[in-house]
Amino acid sequence: MAHYRKLGSIPPKRHTQHRSGDGRLYYEELMGEEGFSGDSSLLYHQRIPSAIVDATPWEVPEQTTTPNHPLTPRHLRLHELFPPATASASDAVTGRRLILGNADVRISYVVAQRDSPLYRNAIGDELVFVESGSAVVETVFGAIEVVEGDYVLIPCATTHRWLPGPDGPLRAYMIEASSHIVPPKRYLSRFGQLLENAPYCERDLHGPVDTLTRSGTDIEVLLKHRSSRGITGTRYVYADHPFDVVGWDGCLYPYSFHVSDFEPITGRVHQPPPAHQVFEAQSFVICNFVPRKVDYHPLSVPVPYYHSNVDSDEVMFYVGGDYAARKGSGIGPGSVSVHPGGHSHGPQRGAYEASVGVEFFDELAIMVDTFHPLELGEGALECDDSSYAWSWAGRGPQS
Ligand SMILES: [Fe+2]
Repeated sequence: MAHYRKLGSIPPKRHTQHRSGDGRLYYEELMGEEGFSGDSSLLYHQRIPSAIVDATPWEVPEQTTTPNHPLTPRHLRLHELFPPATASASDAVTGRRLILGNADVRISYVVAQRDSPLYRNAIGDELVFVESGSAVVETVFGAIEVVEGDYVLIPCATTHRWLPGPDGPLRAYMIEASSHIVPPKRYLSRFGQLLENAPYCERDLHGPVDTLTRSGTDIEVLLKHRSSRGITGTRYVYADHPFDVVGWDGCLYPYSFHVSDFEPITGRVHQPPPAHQVFEAQSFVICNFVPRKVDYHPLSVPVPYYHSNVDSDEVMFYVGGDYAARKGSGIGPGSVSVHPGGHSHGPQRGAYEASVGVEFFDELAIMVDTFHPLELGEGALECDDSSYAWSWAGRGPQS
């Protein structure tokens, strides 16, 4: 994220003495990507940010995956995963249920009402989409208030926690990368400004507005990290509270982006998914389909053509509206469809014909397209609608 921000108290020159009113030195920390050759920020701590007093194993939520074999399109009903009693006991870090994953990305879902522990993902960036509810995300950079429809991008290794708001449970869809999640390169100028033809701009990205300090000793932080056996966790205990930053500046920080600020690009005929792209990462992209006017050629067919996206698995999370192309399939808000590479997919029976003459799609969906195959997490296996694969034909295997 190449948009410079500055908060709180920082010295006029980087890497120079910065002192409190009573003369104590603040501790400068450089948080940087790609071996100090990518985006970075400088944070000024009141206490030494490395001071841990204990480290013990943390059992991360179940990460085992199962191959999608025999290969079938899937319909997953995420709203079945969290009955009310489970939601009231869940938090947005330890309560996540793994839906899909590969070496590049893991997609989880949570319904949470409890405050999360302090947490840091040292594997890659996290992009969290708030399906409903609200929360304050407290981070070492400051707090961000998020509401239904917000994306929150949390850079790799940012210490933070999720505090759900009082307006019902927080429903959140987590996209955890093994890399960095950034605006598509083609949206950016040579020096990183969002271009005039991008569907959003810097004014739509909202970082923390103030620094945040907390006091305390022996503070637990759950760390998710790599190991030779895959993804694992460690529970650190810090001597002092990690939220002690008096100021920071740079181009690396968490921010929110509301999906309604994405300005859809439409045309006389059907626009392909890249027109709906919002972010990219290593070996996957993120698109969103927002309410919009649709194709205005007099002979247009507004729903998508049948398509073989031969190099991708397509994962669509249906958030709201009335998804025209999936009518009759059982898919609705809270559903996830998985359309794997190798299976040609498109509108359900009757939807192709029914879309002729339609001028507006009231739909909201978040799509992740991966360039390597996805496997099914334990959450997917629990809420899989096994009849979806046969929904285009209208009948399944002969018994
Ligand atoms: Fe598709």
